[in-house]
Amino acid sequence: MCGIFGYVTNKEEKLGPILIEAAQRLTYRGYDSVGAATLRDGTIDLRKDVGKVEAVSEKYRFAEMTGSRGITQLRWATFGEPSQVNSQPHIDSDGDMVGAHNGNVVNNVELREQFIAEGMTVRSQNDGETCVHAVERYINRGYQFIDAIRLAYGDLQGDYAFVIGRANDDKLYAFKKGSGMVVGLGEGFTCVSSDLPSILPLTRTIIRPQDGEIVTLWADRVEVRSVKDGRLIERAPEQVSESMDAVQKGGYPHFMLKEIHEQPQVARELLHLLDGSPEVEQLVDRMKRARHLYFIACGTSYHAALAGSVYFAQLAGRPAIPVLAPQFIPQYAPAVGHEDVGLFISQSGETKDVLNALEAAEKRGMECYGLANVIGSTLTKATSFCLPLCCGYEISVPATKTFTNQVITFLYLAYRMAGQDTRELDHIPELMEQTMDATGAQVESIAKDINSWEDMYCLGYGATYPIALEGALKLKEITYAHCEGMLSTEFKHGPLSAVSRDFPIIFVAGPKDVPLIISGINEVKVRGARTIVIAEDDPRLHANADDVIVLPKSDAQISALLGVLPLQMLSYHMSIMRGFDPDFPRNLSKTLTVD
Ligand code: G6P
Repeated sequence: MCGIFGYVTNKEEKLGPILIEAAQRLTYRGYDSVGAATLRDGTIDLRKDVGKVEAVSEKYRFAEMTGSRGITQLRWATFGEPSQVNSQPHIDSDGDMVGAHNGNVVNNVELREQFIAEGMTVRSQNDGETCVHAVERYINRGYQFIDAIRLAYGDLQGDYAFVIGRANDDKLYAFKKGSGMVVGLGEGFTCVSSDLPSILPLTRTIIRPQDGEIVTLWADRVEVRSVKDGRLIERAPEQVSESMDAVQKGGYPHFMLKEIHEQPQVARELLHLLDGSPEVEQLVDRMKRARHLYFIACGTSYHAALAGSVYFAQLAGRPAIPVLAPQFIPQYAPAVGHEDVGLFISQSGETKDVLNALEAAEKRGMECYGLANVIGSTLTKATSFCLPLCCGYEISVPATKTFTNQVITFLYLAYRMAGQDTRELDHIPELMEQTMDATGAQVESIAKDINSWEDMYCLGYGATYPIALEGALKLKEITYAHCEGMLSTEFKHGPLSAVSRDFPIIFVAGPKDVPLIISGINEVKVRGARTIVIAEDDPRLHANADDVIVLPKSDAQISALLGVLPLQMLSYHMSIMRGFDPDFPRNLSKTLTVD
């Protein structure tokens, strides 16, 4: 996820070191390129490239950069491949403005075409540059700077935060829509950033601008104005007292909990992005024409692939074969060819098992596409193109937000394959919020009840089968207990013998599968099991199960997706109750680059 930082001081000074340190504090968000710009005496000094902060800043001697205002940006590629020209900040056509953004401008492609037609110099594919030209457009039409920003804000769709400065000026300007942004007020300087951790070492006096507000930063003061009517907004600064560690975790005790709670927001951003993505069209077209379709992944990403194959069949009547990546090589690679399409799914984009399968598929001429969170990773470079998961950096080893965004991407693609209106998916983020609010306390209490067990099962059917597998994996990863995920109907074919008094069995039930799940519940209940069901409200489930964790009403596919949220929370609570660190479970690694 990109990060921006802007700094305004009352005298011309060496800003390079301040910008480098600020950039270093933003690195935890994940990035592939770095840039810095300083503004002084009507000139702009801009240096940027692909690479790590240390390498790029040394190569381009950021430390020597001077000025009274500076901007630095870390880029996490979404629009435009990681390259020097796509790196941020960006200048306008004649080079007297410079700006950088984080987030995604989803109408980037359309706006770029308009700017080119209007005669502006558009140098990159990147949507950060689009933000600069969006302001330039109205300056060219004779508007004052603040009014130009107000109008640009109306043109830029998506979720982003943006900072911009003019060479002949003594200020920076910033505004945001959907993404985070914090302003800091210090002795002789002000600053603005994508997040609090990057400004805390400089000052603890802050202002949090809201969506639809423009902030003007001078060295000794800031002014907040409404985008709507340009009116001045009074906003008293606040003092931050939390520790740096607490702030980095966004006030949550663990990254996992923070990332679980980020899911509705990243889902919202993903849905916006998919709506604006020209690649989705291309991928859907290719998948429609494919002879066979393979979804190839490992671990949590494989569970998303499995969910994807259920969605494709249920919604679009299109079979897709979900495969664990290493098994693709002996079982399918010998049989695939150029008529087939493979979609490789990976949070990290570096999992060796997945890259091996990709290599085998490519040798056979199969068309290969990707779905990855880490843009710039090997998978994103090795496939024809890769759809981004748009989650920002996921620090906790157990994947949460990347899983839900993988599943949402599959759901979106299935809708497109079926020719169904994807706007129906726009309420998913809200349903996720409702699920977390409604189930949180109950899940914690169930975690207490079953925490002494070292063995349990998590069962699902149809669209909830992959969710049951994923819930079981989360429980195994961070509680170290054994939890087996299984198709509910398979339980009677053997595992039933494990059931003893109070043995915990979790069912994830789709709205149409209630009668089948009730049979499963009773099968184990009469043998003493403790039955916990995650499902939409249904009196038949209340009458049969020990606990019903109620999901908001939706449909079979969305309900399955929502079902994973209580399972993530259950694993989290049990991990904490056992005294483990859910962010860094023993023996596991976030990115597995070995066979
Ligand atoms: C590792 C991680 C898992 C992850 C799997 C696949 O085993 O511990 O959490 O699901 O790799 O990772 P990927 O980055 O390819 O999604």
